[in-house]
Amino acid sequence: MTNQVKEINRIGIFTSGGDAPGMNAAIRAAVRTALYNGKKVTGIYHGYQGMIENTMFEMNSRSVSSIIQKGGTILKTARCMEFRTPEGRKTAYENLVNAGVDALVAIGGDGTFTGAEVFSKEYDIPVMCIPGTIDNDLNGTDLTIGYDTANNTVIDAIDKIRDTAASHNRLFFIEVMGRDSGCIALNAGVAGGAEAILLPEKETAIDELIDMLEHAADRNKSSMIVIVAEGDKNGGAKDVARRVNEKFDYYDTKVSILGHLQRGGAPSSADRVLATRMGYAAVNELLKGNTRATIGIRGSEIVTTPLEEALSKKELKLNEDLVEIAKIMAL
Ligand code: F6P
Repeated sequence: MTNQVKEINRIGIFTSGGDAPGMNAAIRAAVRTALYNGKKVTGIYHGYQGMIENTMFEMNSRSVSSIIQKGGTILKTARCMEFRTPEGRKTAYENLVNAGVDALVAIGGDGTFTGAEVFSKEYDIPVMCIPGTIDNDLNGTDLTIGYDTANNTVIDAIDKIRDTAASHNRLFFIEVMGRDSGCIALNAGVAGGAEAILLPEKETAIDELIDMLEHAADRNKSSMIVIVAEGDKNGGAKDVARRVNEKFDYYDTKVSILGHLQRGGAPSSADRVLATRMGYAAVNELLKGNTRATIGIRGSEIVTTPLEEALSKKELKLNEDLVEIAKIMAL
């Protein structure tokens, strides 16, 4: 959306939803790009919750020193039910007006985007969204900030688990995050050499999985790794392991649920550069008069998509070729 360019003097920046490694690099880039253009910057703690509670502070270039390498978000984050109410959004807007904030950069996932779209329309405040979530489940971009780092974290865990699985001739079920997306499971599963990968986007019956495991055992595989995306329809890794074991107990079976360690850690080089490009672009889009969009990357090009469009469809982000390749690599 590009309207008549409304003078922007102060940009508010916040992070919302699940944190992701690389968010700090995006914050840093947005702050410094705004300051470079002579604008003032207000940091908003705890996302929409902070907007309502008025936990805001002046940011300068030193506010974002030595954070590019840090996981998490210096602005903290939260999931805010109160912002879903008109009263909550009214309080938030009044606080922004009192602080002199006349545009926003929102870094987060789909909940962040949804809140930004409603708020921006309700109060005619320009908002530029930056896709920050390890899930890689947002429209308008090939990649979200944090996804690459989370993949690297997961493959490090798979490699470590493979050492002990091989030592004990065990079958491991490893559960990974991603909410309803199988992107982490698929990419880390391929990179980690998993024998099977269960994805929310694909129906894999337990009997089908057992069949795959029996064939692997017939090929004298002494140990195996099965990646289970947390959103898989068979349930989590514990459920899958239990149901497999009821019919297939050839291997001693263990379960590892990786959990929130996938959200932490120093962002990868790729995430730092992606986040920096997106933070820079978000501010420049606001200054050009873009009022309601998300920043994204297509190939190597930074693009923008109107927020309404980004929220109106569901791009299938799974690489179908990779699904097929994963099965062949498990031979
Ligand atoms: O959206 C990121 C994510 O890590 C998902 O992969 C996961 O299901 C969810 O957040 C966990 O949410 P919380 O941190 O609130 O437990």
